[in-house]
Amino acid sequence: MTRPLPRHAAGATPKTQPLPAARPEPQPQPVIRLVSVVKTYGTGEAAVQALRGVSLDVAGRDYVAIMGASGSGKSTMMNIIGCLDVPSEGQFLIDGIDTGSLDEQQLAVLRNRKIGFVFQAFNLIPRMTALANVELPLSYAGLRAAERRRRAEAALRLVGLADRMNAQPMQLSGGQQQRVAVARALVTSPSLILADEPTGNLDTRASRDLMEVFDRLNAAGRTIVVITHEADVAAHAKRVVGIQDGHIVADRRITAPGAPPPLLGRPGRGPVPS
Ligand SMILES: Nc1ncnc2c1ncn2[C@@H]1O[C@H](COP(=O)(O)OP(=O)(O)OP(=O)(O)O)[C@@H](O)[C@H]1O
Ligand SMILES: [Mg+2]
Repeated sequence: MTRPLPRHAAGATPKTQPLPAARPEPQPQPVIRLVSVVKTYGTGEAAVQALRGVSLDVAGRDYVAIMGASGSGKSTMMNIIGCLDVPSEGQFLIDGIDTGSLDEQQLAVLRNRKIGFVFQAFNLIPRMTALANVELPLSYAGLRAAERRRRAEAALRLVGLADRMNAQPMQLSGGQQQRVAVARALVTSPSLILADEPTGNLDTRASRDLMEVFDRLNAAGRTIVVITHEADVAAHAKRVVGIQDGHIVADRRITAPGAPPPLLGRPGRGPVPS
């Protein structure tokens, strides 16, 4: 049996190339993947199930706000994402690596390489300058003193604190202290920034300045996950995830993970730190 000739060989001129069969766009691997994660604290009568089967993918460059009532499981989820705690059941993958297969030390390495944390309480060391606080995470990285200093200064400049590098935390406003904490989170160049109520102790103005810093970090390619109670803060994110009683109950996409953050560079939002 002979094979039929292709149409053009048979005299017909093809006007267009045949379209390849429709295939779903290949999705890049998520930076964060939670699969049916359960977290139980304590045992027996005293057991508290803080997460009850949470599945969530976060793409690179996304900017996610997590909202929910007190006790709903937000910090529990953040601690798992930050490799500070492990699920009781289910899987947690970071850049495709199943963290369940890692030991304590491997988890610590992952955490130090990939993740920068910002907490509600700034957690700065009191009698050290802003610069020394920011240099601290680098002292474990085996860098020379001059290089540590150079990187810490660059991180402080990025959050708009070029002129306050030698101040101690007590000499700084709450907003400035939190920006030092952000510089400290950034100085190791993590690809993922996790913030647990970073504006919880800040006034409106300082919150806005901090969120501008986050907007710029995200625009520069960092993935951000921020827990917040405040709609004003969540408005900066590209996606808002709602959590209630250990379940994800809402997941709203505002703009694509690769798009600029929705409030980036909006005029009238205070001076942008240089
Ligand atoms: N280490 C722990 N031991 C026992 N129970 C805990 C522990 N940490 C959290 N829980 C419980 O798990 C549940 C979820 O707590 P989680 O801290 O995740 O809430 P949250 O959403 O961050 O709340 P908040 O908005 O108040 O910070 C709560 O019922 C809490 O009491
Ligand atoms: Mg919390």
